[in-house]
Amino acid sequence: MARPALLQRRVSLLSLSLLCLVPLVQSNGNGLAQTPPMGWMAWERFRCDTDCKDDLENCISEKLFMDMADRLSEDGWRELGYEYVIIDDCWMSRIRDKNGTLQPDPDRFPSGIKRLADYVHNRGLKLGIYADMGRWTCMGFPGTTLDKIELDAQTFASWGVDYLKFDGCNSNALEQLLGYPLMSKALNATGRPMVYSCSWPVYIGSLPPEVNYTLLGDICHLWRNYYDIQDSWDSVQFIMDWFFNNQDYIQPAAGPGKWNDPDMLIIGNFGLSLEQSRTQMALWSIMASPLIMSNDLRSLDNAARAILQNKAAISINQDPLGIQGRRLFKEKTKIEVYWRPLVDAASALVFLSRRSDMPYHYHTSLEKLGFGKGNYEVYDVFEGSKPKPLNSTEQFTVSINPSGVVMWYLKPVKTDGFFFLLIHLL
Ligand code: GLA
Repeated sequence: MARPALLQRRVSLLSLSLLCLVPLVQSNGNGLAQTPPMGWMAWERFRCDTDCKDDLENCISEKLFMDMADRLSEDGWRELGYEYVIIDDCWMSRIRDKNGTLQPDPDRFPSGIKRLADYVHNRGLKLGIYADMGRWTCMGFPGTTLDKIELDAQTFASWGVDYLKFDGCNSNALEQLLGYPLMSKALNATGRPMVYSCSWPVYIGSLPPEVNYTLLGDICHLWRNYYDIQDSWDSVQFIMDWFFNNQDYIQPAAGPGKWNDPDMLIIGNFGLSLEQSRTQMALWSIMASPLIMSNDLRSLDNAARAILQNKAAISINQDPLGIQGRRLFKEKTKIEVYWRPLVDAASALVFLSRRSDMPYHYHTSLEKLGFGKGNYEVYDVFEGSKPKPLNSTEQFTVSINPSGVVMWYLKPVKTDGFFFLLIHLL
């Protein structure tokens, strides 16, 4: 019997040679997701609650998705770009129908997915759904084995689905290597434009050489690189640290139509303070991450709503250049600085405090942060103050709260010295 390590090596060698046989199928050539997708997804907040008898408001049912579609369309979310309502695991019946087709649980989705898609579309929104490349989904519902890929893609298209999250539980590396590109091809073949979100990297170690980010960018619009987010500050830190520690591998992979996905926004739930919520919004915007909330939009408090609906943060996230930002520094003082270049020579800066004592006064200058010489205009994203002039050589101080951020949008100003001085004095 081969030892596990040996077996694993054989599988990866086989995978590598098979990779040459996989036809390159471009999924993201269809012009979708030119900026990171935005919307709402059930999983982190509502998990696999199927108990509609005792918990009608929160169970995974058509009512939950209709409620969220109502909120997205009536509470100003849609206009800001939050357009996808995404069903996660546990929507299915435990068995496929007599033709082998996936079907929703008849008690919890009595109108069927097509009617739910109509409901969502009538509100100017789009519908996402979940399936799993493997024998069962992560929660044990019917999976999509290789022989079912075409059928399931066609089923989703016939229901009017606009987005597929394709998970990878209960399959091996070889099946995934074949299945993820095949699903891309099958979705394209339906003729219905669907955003394709791949969970592939997280199942094969998240980094090269196991993960081929060039191939992912060719076949998927977004991909889950790393572990599931949970409702805690620890979890947010764990995920963001992984993303920035590995930025050299993953940052170049992102761009219009192809995004790294550090998982859902948990702002508005139970685990984050106000400061930590701003931190998640700020760093997800720096990372050009999908802004997919998983919270209860029916009972969101105003502070969480203001963060999630912050127009400056959203426009940084949705910047048309689509360049993912990077961590510039990790200071000994536990202050970190993040930066993302934006269209028109603008940029976003985030100063994060990993301290737990008191607001920290961080002194620096734009020059020290690597900015070119000249005059800039600075807008504080969460303070919402009037833009302030700042010369690259000028020393400035930001006061950063524990586990919080200061986030800036900056733009070079092309005034001459006299006018700049005038603005400065006014
Ligand atoms: C995996 C995924 C999660 C969620 C669950 C559903 O853990 O990473 O995002 O879809 O499965 O079972």
